[in-house]
Amino acid sequence: MAIFKPYISSESIKLVNSTLKSGHINEGKNVEVFENLISKELKIRNALALNSCTSALHMALLSCNIKEGDEVILPAQTFVATGTAILMCKAKPVFADINIGDGNISVNSIEKKISKKTKAIIVVHWGGYPCDMDEINELSNKYNLKVIEDAAHALGATYKNRPIGNISNFTCFSFQAIKHITTGDGGLISLKNSVDYKRCKKLRWFGIDRKKTKFNDLNVRNSEISELGYKYHMNNISAAIGIGNLKQFKKIQKKREKIAMLYKEGLKDIDGLLQLNYKKNRISSWWMYNFRVIERGKFIKMLKKNKIPYSAVNTRIDKNPLFGTEDKSLLNQNIFDKQQISLSTDPSLKIQVVKNYIKIIRGGW
Ligand SMILES: Cc1ncc(COP(=O)(O)O)c(C=O)c1O
Repeated sequence: MAIFKPYISSESIKLVNSTLKSGHINEGKNVEVFENLISKELKIRNALALNSCTSALHMALLSCNIKEGDEVILPAQTFVATGTAILMCKAKPVFADINIGDGNISVNSIEKKISKKTKAIIVVHWGGYPCDMDEINELSNKYNLKVIEDAAHALGATYKNRPIGNISNFTCFSFQAIKHITTGDGGLISLKNSVDYKRCKKLRWFGIDRKKTKFNDLNVRNSEISELGYKYHMNNISAAIGIGNLKQFKKIQKKREKIAMLYKEGLKDIDGLLQLNYKKNRISSWWMYNFRVIERGKFIKMLKKNKIPYSAVNTRIDKNPLFGTEDKSLLNQNIFDKQQISLSTDPSLKIQVVKNYIKIIRGGW
């Protein structure tokens, strides 16, 4: 049983229908509407809609001029895309440890991993819970490093009352099938600096600014490409799904929060179940409900027997031979990887069903 279910609003279906009928299916008006809507609703600045968060991470690294020989620090507690984007720039991913209390990258560990070659840090708001951004930005100023936020799980999260997407120079979101808001597949990069924004706007479509280039007498776009670009833009069909879904975001997010709060209260004081320590100065987007269980194997057997959906969602990525070998010196990561587990906060879950899951878990394993 899956812990995530794609959410498609009825308005998305209508909008996709009309977009298909219109024939304007490539990047166009819908993409602009989607970008404006998400900027307005979620205070995400300079939003550029893309075809994935992986593309967004790649463009963020390109904006930081990450090249062969550079090192980029990241947590192993993430999805492989955080690391593959670094490899796409021919740079070296360097894994830092996480906080055992929340699963996010540890500031102390980042500092220990900084070398002369380090150029940037990618932080991942794992499960939607924002990282220690003040401390991370302080460190990046001290060592002159760029910070990229991988906010694939964190749409709608806030840090000290500031929305994620409004803090750092580069924030990357995902609208892949099972994220808070899906566009089928899709992503977004938010760029603080308008020079980076303008550059990425070109890079997302082969280095061409769609709006600024005119068609000539041959009915061909007059492009003068000066920098290698990519096919990373979002199209109007995806944007149509996104627009319809975004309008429901606040409603579905409230439901996620409600479910998370039920788990938080209901799973208190259980032997062998360790809740994560989420600070009051930030709000998670609760992509799932994460915690640790000492005897995870037995716990999973009990969940399976009772048909309670669960997943570890992301397991450490440094174990993939692509990245070298698992870094056993990441002591918290070693423990977290053996104990972490997540329950569903999917908005389609009925409150009574969640209460029943809690009751069953409280019964022991
Ligand atoms: C932390 C993280 N970063 C990046 C990505 C990549 O997102 P996308 O599939 O939109 O490229 C994911 C996907 O799930 C993710 O979980």
